[in-house]
Amino acid sequence: MNLDVLGIDIGGTGIKGAPVNTKTGELIAERFRIPTPQNATPAAIADVVAQIARHFNWTGPIGCTVPARVEHGLVRTASNIHADWIDTQVEELFSNKTGCPTSVLNDADAAGVASITFGLGSSLTGLVFFITVGTGIGSAMFFNRVLIPGTELGHLRLKGDAAELYASDRARVKEDLSWKRWARRFQKYLDRLEFLFAPDHIIIGGGISRPSKVKSYSKYLATRAGLHFSLLENEAGIIGAACAAASNQKES
Ligand code: BGC
Repeated sequence: MNLDVLGIDIGGTGIKGAPVNTKTGELIAERFRIPTPQNATPAAIADVVAQIARHFNWTGPIGCTVPARVEHGLVRTASNIHADWIDTQVEELFSNKTGCPTSVLNDADAAGVASITFGLGSSLTGLVFFITVGTGIGSAMFFNRVLIPGTELGHLRLKGDAAELYASDRARVKEDLSWKRWARRFQKYLDRLEFLFAPDHIIIGGGISRPSKVKSYSKYLATRAGLHFSLLENEAGIIGAACAAASNQKES
């Protein structure tokens, strides 16, 4: 069975794709990136997804991320994306536009799948949270390496509102917080997670997990759970989306 899948990661600033060998997690061609359209409606994004598929002359399966909750191919939330996404049948939309069978999952779930399959998560058992910190806060929950999809733990309440408004990287930049002040906020978020779920491990991903940034704030964080920083960052969404699509293909 052909296990090469085109992985596409839809982010706030760029939409990136590359074919992935889903057995090894390796990209089999150089990544191709197109800036996210200003008016990022489902139709505009679908056009870019189709452009990426054409760039690779792709005719096989596609795995794609979106920064929202996806239930059976249907987008349910739109905190950091265009409101038109709500109730979009995104798998159908992308499959029709590209002419390729397309599976879609949440961006944090995809990045978590990459980490748990090929990254540092692959050596961790028990309850593992993969938390992405960027524009928003995304979450992927694993128990003994099995994904429990669809968690939205960036929306836990902190200071009377969604935690991502207070402790994301966007909040740090917007409010011009020092690393120490931001880390104090993020620590509150981690405390809340630990109090509610008592995970064994927490892996931090997203833009904030770049080594150059980690060294500025990790000294201010303390958790009972093992705390780890993902290194797969740039490609995690692409790889995870491709792997999830490959397992969907096997099941069908
Ligand atoms: C969304 C999540 C997403 C996260 C990271 C949040 O605002 O609700 O679905 O995973 O941002 O992009």
